[in-house]
Amino acid sequence: MTDVVGFIHSKGGVGKSTLTVFVALALHSNGLIVRVLDADPQASVHRWSITAAKSRDPLPIDVVSTPSPQAVSDEVSAARSEGIDIVLIDTPPGTPAVLDEVVKLVDLALIPTAASPMDIDRVWPTLDLLANVPTAVVLNALDARETAATVAKETLEEAGVDVADTTVPMRASVRRAFGTNPSVPAVYRELADEIKEAVS
Ligand SMILES: Nc1ncnc2c1ncn2[C@@H]1O[C@H](COP(=O)(O)OP(=O)(O)O)[C@@H](O)[C@H]1O
Ligand SMILES: [Mg+2]
Repeated sequence: MTDVVGFIHSKGGVGKSTLTVFVALALHSNGLIVRVLDADPQASVHRWSITAAKSRDPLPIDVVSTPSPQAVSDEVSAARSEGIDIVLIDTPPGTPAVLDEVVKLVDLALIPTAASPMDIDRVWPTLDLLANVPTAVVLNALDARETAATVAKETLEEAGVDVADTTVPMRASVRRAFGTNPSVPAVYRELADEIKEAVS
């Protein structure tokens, strides 16, 4: 069975694309056959993959650009028939048509967000889009000194929103990782384990 996980947040710059790549690499290193669909027309993840492929150290996972609803649907079907274990879909910000298709296909939606009140404020409309889908918020790019993460987790959980136990710190090596095949910090393996658990 092919599990399908979407990385979704109506806001840009919250870390969707970066998290997609690092989680994909963590799942791959756990032995799963992973495919990434890049449903964002800006194609950051696809460009990441192309840039790495031109170096001597390509990403060890397939990345397919799927900027239209039809392309997403076709590629998920292809992944299922090829026996891919897990498909991760990176999505654009806003509420474009491609997102409606992604929402129909996912078994789990992850909402990466910083812990700032402004980012959390935009989680609510994203949750509305995902009303019928199992969803978890992933607190991402956290500053070690900030207490906002604790407050954000409490606020979300009081409203009945699942928050991943794993929180992802801000890291300079992650910020610089675009276009490379980066080493994967342990925190992404923990998150990958939570994701596997959630879809199993
Ligand atoms: N854990 C992290 N630590 C440091 N920088 C991060 C982290 N996650 C994302 N970033 C950076 O934040 C910016 C936005 O991330 P990106 O993945 O492009 O977000 P989105 O896809 O939601 O627009 C990028 O510059 C990226 O390198
Ligand atoms: Mg992106």
